[in-house]
Amino acid sequence: MTNPEKIACIETFGCQMNERDTEIMAQLLTRAGYEMTNEPDRADLVVVNTCSIRGKAEQKAMSLLGRLKHSKRTKPGLIVAVTGCVAQQEGGKIQERMNHVDLVIGPQAIYRLPELLDSLQKNGGKMTAIDQAASFTIPSLLPDPGNSALPHKRFVTIMQGCNNFCTYCVVPYTRGREVSRPPADIIAEVKHLAANNVREITLLGQNVNSYGLDRKDRDYPDFPTLLRKVAEIAGVARLRFTTSNPKDLSEELMKCFAELDNLCPHFHLPVQSGSDVILKKMNRKYTIGQYLEKIAGLRRYCPDIAITTDIIVGFPGESAEDFAATMVLLEKVRYHGAYSFKYSDRPHTVSAGFADKVLEEVKSERLRILQARQQEITTERYRACLGHVMEIMVEGESRNGEGQWSGRTGSNHIVNFSGGETLQPGQILEVRIDEACQHSLRGNLI
Ligand code: 5AD
Ligand code: SF4
Repeated sequence: MTNPEKIACIETFGCQMNERDTEIMAQLLTRAGYEMTNEPDRADLVVVNTCSIRGKAEQKAMSLLGRLKHSKRTKPGLIVAVTGCVAQQEGGKIQERMNHVDLVIGPQAIYRLPELLDSLQKNGGKMTAIDQAASFTIPSLLPDPGNSALPHKRFVTIMQGCNNFCTYCVVPYTRGREVSRPPADIIAEVKHLAANNVREITLLGQNVNSYGLDRKDRDYPDFPTLLRKVAEIAGVARLRFTTSNPKDLSEELMKCFAELDNLCPHFHLPVQSGSDVILKKMNRKYTIGQYLEKIAGLRRYCPDIAITTDIIVGFPGESAEDFAATMVLLEKVRYHGAYSFKYSDRPHTVSAGFADKVLEEVKSERLRILQARQQEITTERYRACLGHVMEIMVEGESRNGEGQWSGRTGSNHIVNFSGGETLQPGQILEVRIDEACQHSLRGNLI
């Protein structure tokens, strides 16, 4: 039952882990009698779910919080809550700087949101919940099939946190150490979603290859074994996962791409740099030689696999030669796509203390060069699809308008296509590709 006096809005920044956390909070708030809205102006409770991965992400969330100060002036009863990685990182300092923030909740404490709101309403004051317990377990909560933007595909968290400590990365500090969910909870969640017409599942974790390693004593399966179990669940037409560290990518996992029909031929394998010197300073624990062997292994098992990556330019000490090595790597791998970023200092990280920082102009120039070349390669990859018949899963009506539909290939390319009367999201169809655009393909239904 909804209570018209309680309307909540959640603004989400950052990765899929945060998107999933937003779904969980929305579900808990709905249960607690809140109506959810996308319009912050209508809300009595605004939750800002923040990301701290780069300085820019943090600033975006902070400026939204700043604007909420004015909203609170005109609506004194408004409750402002900060969740996500900036909440964990800054804790009570947020409220010291921004007096209008009532609640600061770290990623492990979001399950307590309704209880924290209750006690805030009873006792007033300000609250901070950012404890990170070594014994933390992810509570089991069957997802609400209705509360998602795209109802035919959903994320299922299999583990949280990270033990890798790459020197640039804030995640081990904000999301804590690795915690794997019990396999039975994961299986039950996937079955529940599949029974509610969800056709595509993405298994989520900061470091999915380490799944189960923190719970060896309890005999959890390893990641490839879990993947095989999930792939068997009736109704899962497409299965994906993210994210992996190349150092832990095993032959067993590569085999899954040859053997599991519903595992999509796409692998996001962040490399970060093409220079062994920089990889060492980043504490990535692999060399480019080893990385390329993993790529070759994946392509042996699955020749058509689409490979995407993340790259940081301008890490402290990155020389012109180091950057040139990254450009060489682009030619060697020919990624289907790359997310690339300028290095940014993050609190608590080791690299924030490194000398020889790269100038902002140099970082911008390197990013521009890298992105321009990658765009060419991506377009060449797109063009190679021309004339091919590809299987797509319908996402919905295309933004291009009238009678146009949009779907995704297993390799995760967006395809806009015409033909077909009324299609349902989640339907799988064949499309012949006849045009390659900058960020998508176009085709016709067969
Ligand atoms: N500066 C720039 N990019 C970063 N990333 C992580 N930390 C930083 C940082 N301090 C990038 C990495 C990672 C992606 C999610 O964000 O490429 O894979
Ligand atoms: Fe951002 Fe990383 Fe936190 Fe995701 S885990 S919200 S990317 S800082």
